Amino acid sequence: MRVLAIETSCDETAVAACDCSGELAAPTFAVLGNAVHSQVAEHRAFGGVVPSLAKREHAKNLPAVLAEALRNCPSRGEQVGVDAATEAAVREILAREDGLADALLALVRATPKPDVDLLAVTVGPGLEPALWVGIGAARALALAWNLPLVGADHMEGHVVAAISGRAAPALPAVALLVSGGHTELALVRGWGDYAVLGETRDDAVGEAYDKVARVLGLPYPGGPEVAKLAAASRANPAAGRADVKLPRPMIGSGDLDFSLSGLKTAVLYAARDHGELDDAFRRSLAAEFEEAVADVLAAKVGIAIEAEAPRALIVGGGVIANGYLRARLGQVAAATGVELLLPPPGLATDNAAMVAAAGYLRFLRVGAEAPETLRASGGRRLTDL
Ligand code: KG4
Ligand code: ZN
Repeated sequence: MRVLAIETSCDETAVAACDCSGELAAPTFAVLGNAVHSQVAEHRAFGGVVPSLAKREHAKNLPAVLAEALRNCPSRGEQVGVDAATEAAVREILAREDGLADALLALVRATPKPDVDLLAVTVGPGLEPALWVGIGAARALALAWNLPLVGADHMEGHVVAAISGRAAPALPAVALLVSGGHTELALVRGWGDYAVLGETRDDAVGEAYDKVARVLGLPYPGGPEVAKLAAASRANPAAGRADVKLPRPMIGSGDLDFSLSGLKTAVLYAARDHGELDDAFRRSLAAEFEEAVADVLAAKVGIAIEAEAPRALIVGGGVIANGYLRARLGQVAAATGVELLLPPPGLATDNAAMVAAAGYLRFLRVGAEAPETLRASGGRRLTDL
């Protein structure tokens, strides 16, 4: 089954098509086209994502991102017209999204209908004003192309991203999700059957990276910038390490919860105590921060594996684009003898291929959904599926 998916939960506007197959016990998917437009440049001046700005940018950029994804998605060359009643309905669905109805109607009229069997759209978690843009666009396309539609869960997408292009692992699996808004450990008993084992009590790991980046004078989003500084420090041990030691919050708490805000504050104090931030100190601080994060993640994942005896360890979310964290979690998997599944490059940070896969899982579980019943659900959890 070919699935075309739309993702607008945060600051990436993404559309992708995937070929999905297999039953719920052993799903597989292969990415056909994966178009992503990042709004990072628009939000940078504000030091983080501004929901109203994200909403406007999604509406502006979605048609071009859709057109790009469709270039890699097969069609049967069939041109569909849009009758007056359909056009009126599309305009009503998208009445609150500036210019989007015009642009999508023009695209549908000018582009052959894609050869897909299902549309999927992220319904949460995420920023609700941003989510509504994707939901409206997906409803409009479902109507114009006469295709079934499902609402997909963004975090389930981050979990299934790791099985892209390969066979699904034997379950149960322990899943670590580390993104800008989430940090949690989940038990994957089946695809759609999740239990939360632990989660952050305050900041998410990606959020901590972004805040540390700000302290170090680096631009948003800070994850990749802090990672670069930390890597530079590790690559040159001869340069030495400034004498700075940060806490490993909750590493010995005995449970599977996390706390990152104290670590971020410790970075702030270390920087303040040091005074003028020279490059050598910034590199040392970034490396110590990243190692503190890695120590805590590795310890908690180790405890989860011991407690749950899973067949696999799955890691997902934008933070796992980080090479050092990938390597450290690889060590945990090797030491405990469980198979490690990481998202391939391009599928760690937000994308719509993972949403197509999550939409396929949703379709296997409940079938198509009535488009008008889809609602943005900013705070939904993996246990709500
Ligand atoms: O999953 P994602 O793209 O969006 C959310 O759903 O939140 O994750 C974005 C987060 C940001 O906080 C970003 O700084 C972080 O992932 N990130 C990284 C790296 N690349 C992105 N953090 C650490 N190292 C990286 N290489
Ligand atoms: Zn995400």
